[in-house]
Amino acid sequence: MTIQCHHRIGSFAWSHLSRRASSLPSSTKANVGVAKQLMLCGRNRKQTYSTVMPSLMMLRAHPQLQVATAMSSRCCDFSTKTDNNDDAVAASDDNMKKHQQNAAEIAKIIRNIKADLVEADVNNDKKIDAEELKAILKKYPHVFKDEDIFEIGEVFYTSRGGEGVSHERFMKAISNAIDGKEEIDEEGVQHRRMQTGISHPLGLGTCSTEYMYGKSRGVYSDEELEVKLTHVEPKTMQDKMALQAVGVVRFLFDTVSMWNHGEITQAKVLRRVIFLETVAGIPGFVAAMFRHFRSLRTFTRDGGMLNMFLDEANNERMHLLSFVRMRDPGLFMRFTVLASQTVVGAGFMVLYAIAPDFCHRFVGYVEEEACHTYTTIIKEIESAQEANPMSEWRTQLAPRIARGYWHLGEDGTVLDMMYAIRADEAEHRDVNHVVSGLSPDQPNPLYNPEEKFDQVLKKYVENMLERGKE
Ligand SMILES: [Fe+2]
Ligand SMILES: [Fe+2]
Repeated sequence: MTIQCHHRIGSFAWSHLSRRASSLPSSTKANVGVAKQLMLCGRNRKQTYSTVMPSLMMLRAHPQLQVATAMSSRCCDFSTKTDNNDDAVAASDDNMKKHQQNAAEIAKIIRNIKADLVEADVNNDKKIDAEELKAILKKYPHVFKDEDIFEIGEVFYTSRGGEGVSHERFMKAISNAIDGKEEIDEEGVQHRRMQTGISHPLGLGTCSTEYMYGKSRGVYSDEELEVKLTHVEPKTMQDKMALQAVGVVRFLFDTVSMWNHGEITQAKVLRRVIFLETVAGIPGFVAAMFRHFRSLRTFTRDGGMLNMFLDEANNERMHLLSFVRMRDPGLFMRFTVLASQTVVGAGFMVLYAIAPDFCHRFVGYVEEEACHTYTTIIKEIESAQEANPMSEWRTQLAPRIARGYWHLGEDGTVLDMMYAIRADEAEHRDVNHVVSGLSPDQPNPLYNPEEKFDQVLKKYVENMLERGKE
């Protein structure tokens, strides 16, 4: 009965809160937004329905929120009428105490966030800019790593063209980030969110997407290194043709290189990967080139895909440059590479001009095979007997270029490098499958500056919630 009662109070309270909030000054509205989202956050964490009550207490506790008196008095009236026996009243008192406690905590969190904003505002312009944002995040080194702080500072600066935002807008952004759904009309630059079509309070937009995409290697988590061998089922005729084409190519290449005959040796592995990586670096570069030309030709933005494909091509080139430090290709290999580059390079360019979606699907399936190949190599290294030279790669240092590129550390081994390369291939697999079928105008679905920013704000608020309980 009590829970039900509070749930009903909650619904009533929110509708009233929303109505009253619309008439408040903008700074107060921002605080109401944050408080409301903090409450919803609590509800999402599977607390009881009665968590709605602290908001009302918070309104009372917070002097800036002018709706306090009206809200709490209406709420108390309702409680009195509904809880008509002694037990219910006692339970209600207990709940009220808890709510008051929570309310004080939430008021404290809001005060702490505002204190952070004021403290960071060194030029005292009542706005927060990229440097000031970084100063706030640096206060919590256990939550934000230096590289994350640098990146989010860049995203903020480049997206806003160096402009700061008012504290009120920043509070709104926090509220929006916690919820992720609330539609907020904001003055200034309107930006439609890429996927949801909702405008972001900070109007970060997609400017930075054009040139900011950059994958820092060597940040693979253990989970990412444990690549799952996924397969995308072909749906269209084009997908089926792409899958069959990859099947034919793989069969021919396996047969010619005798991959499935005899045991796998270091020489066999290096021959295979060196040749394949010379080919693997082609599609990303061709895709990037076509998108670059399209952007020049049509005077339109690329949307950040170009950088991603260029990164893919470069990444494959780094695979190659790492492997050739382990084996110097002979004349025959060099001639074969020259011939294949001429044929595959020219052929892929023609194909990409005609059917880019087919090409990305094709590459997606090629990369599925690459994941299988590197998984086989990793298993061979890990299971090799001590007498088998393949076992040396468990302890042999990876080439310096590879240790640097993937941040493997000074004692990073060839096996570590294989794990990193496989994770790269899995990423290419997923990227190419995702982009196949996207409209050329769609911004990069894998690099959304607003989402990145919201994730940081969420982490920031979660940190404040934790600190608020201390
Ligand atoms: Fe590769
Ligand atoms: Fe690849």
